[in-house]
Amino acid sequence: MKITVFGSGYVGLVTGTCLAEVGNDVLCVDIDKNKIEQLNNGKIPIYEPGLETMVKENHNAGRLNFTTNISEAVEHGLFQFIAVGTPPDEDGSADLQYVLTVATSIAEHMNDYKVVIDKSTVPVGTADRVKKTMVEKLVSRGKNLEFDVVSNPEFLKEGAAIDDFMKPDRIVIGTDNPRTTELLKAMYSPFNRNHDRIIAMDIRSAELTKYAANSMLATKISFMNELANLAEHLGANIEHVRQGIGSDSRIGYSFIYPGCGYGGSCFPKDVKALERTAREVGYNAELLSAVENVNDRQKKVLFNKINQYYQGDLSGKTFALWGLSFKPNTDDMREAPSRVLIEALINAGATVRAYDPEAIEEAKRIYPDLKGLILCDDTCDALDDADALCIVTEWKKFWSPDFEEMKRHLKQPLIFDGRNLYDPEQMKSLGYEYISIGRE
Ligand SMILES: NC(=O)c1ccc[n+]([C@@H]2O[C@H](COP(=O)([O-])OP(=O)(O)OC[C@H]3O[C@@H](n4cnc5c(N)ncnc54)[C@H](O)[C@@H]3O)[C@@H](O)[C@H]2O)c1
Repeated sequence: MKITVFGSGYVGLVTGTCLAEVGNDVLCVDIDKNKIEQLNNGKIPIYEPGLETMVKENHNAGRLNFTTNISEAVEHGLFQFIAVGTPPDEDGSADLQYVLTVATSIAEHMNDYKVVIDKSTVPVGTADRVKKTMVEKLVSRGKNLEFDVVSNPEFLKEGAAIDDFMKPDRIVIGTDNPRTTELLKAMYSPFNRNHDRIIAMDIRSAELTKYAANSMLATKISFMNELANLAEHLGANIEHVRQGIGSDSRIGYSFIYPGCGYGGSCFPKDVKALERTAREVGYNAELLSAVENVNDRQKKVLFNKINQYYQGDLSGKTFALWGLSFKPNTDDMREAPSRVLIEALINAGATVRAYDPEAIEEAKRIYPDLKGLILCDDTCDALDDADALCIVTEWKKFWSPDFEEMKRHLKQPLIFDGRNLYDPEQMKSLGYEYISIGRE
C-alpha cells in the first residue's frame, strides 16, 4: 500500500518505519529540512531503541523514503497520516495550526480520493475542522474531490515505541464511513494477526479516547504523589503502601510509582488540553485541574527537600544530577522534571553537574549557554566535588551503582532520590544520608 506520513518526529517516524517494515511503500514528509536531510543520510534525529536499524533497513530496501516536497508527498499515498505536533497554546488548549496546515496542504495538492488519518492527539471536533479546512481549499481550487477523515490516535510509549506499534494493545479507528473502516482494517491487518485489536467507533469518541487514556494514567501518578506527600506527614512508607494497593487486581502495579512528577510531550499537555476542552463546553473538570496542580507541585518536591536540608542557602553548592530525559530510554526532555530542578537550583545560586545516558545533546540544545549547568560524560564525572546527588530519571544504569566508588567522588555521602531507587536501610548501612519520596 502507498502511505504518506506528515511529520517525522517520535510518532511519525515510528509509524512510517513500522508500516514500511511490513512491506508498505512509505513516504515520510517533514517541513524540517535538516531532519529530512539527516534521515536521507541514515541518521536518526531522535533516540528510540531499535529505530535506527529499522529505518536504515527499510530505507535501503526502498520502502521508506523521506522528503520535504509536499506535492510529491500528497501524490504518493492513498493514506495520508497526520502525525505533526499539537503543543499547548498559551491558554493550555491544543494548538492545531500544524494539523490544519497539513489538511490545507493535502487539499491543495490532491488529485484523487485520499484517506486522511489523524494520528496526532487532537481535541474532540478536530476531524470536523480538518474536513472543513479541506473542503474550503478544494472549493477555492474549483475541485470536487472525495476524501475521508479518520481519527486513529496513537498510544505508543517513547522508549518502547516500536514494540507498541508492532504489537498494539488496541487500534482505535474513529470513522463515520464503513468503507474507510474496511480500508484501515486492511492496512492494519499485519499488526492484527494474533487477535483482533481493532476497536472501531465514531470519530468524536476516538478523539476523546486518547485524552481519556493519558488523563487516566496521569491521574494514577498524581494520586500516588499526593499519597506520598501525605505518607511523609504520617510517618508511613509509600513503597509499602504502593505494594499493598498494587496487589489488588482492580488497581494494579503500573503507573502507581511515587516520584518527582510526570513530564514528557504527552501527559502534561493532554491533561491541560482536556481540561480546557471541558471549560470550552461549560464543564468544570475539577479532577483534571487537580491532577495538573498536584503534578506541578510535585515537580518542585526535590528542590524543596534540598532547600530545606540546606536551610534555604544553596549558593556555592554543587549538585550532581542523574537523569535529564523525562523518563528512561528516550532523549526527550519536553516538560521533564529535571528542567524544573536544574532551573530552581541554578536560580538559588547552585551549580549542577548533570549526566544522562541519551539526553546530553538535547540538553545542549535546550540550554546552549546556561551558566551553572555542566553536562558530564558519565555518572562519576557528574559526582565530582558535588555536595549531593539528585536522581531524577530511573535509567537502569542508576539502579545498582557502586556506592563505595560514588563516595570517593562526592563531597559527602548524600542522595536526594526522586524515584525511590534504593532501600533506605541499605543506604543507611552504607553510610549515606538518603532522602527519597514518601518514606523516611
Ligand atoms: N511522543 C509521543 O510519545 C506520542 C505518543 C502518542 C501520541 N503523540 C501525539 O502525536 C503527535 C506528534 O507528536 P511527536 O512527539 O511525534 O511530535 P514531534 O514534535 O516529535 O514531531 C512532529 C514533527 O512534525 C513536523 N511538522 C510540523 N508541521 C509539519 C507540516 N506542516 N508538514 C510536515 N511535517 C510537519 C515537525 O517538524 C516535527 O518533525 C502529537 O499530537 C502528540 O501528542 C505523541
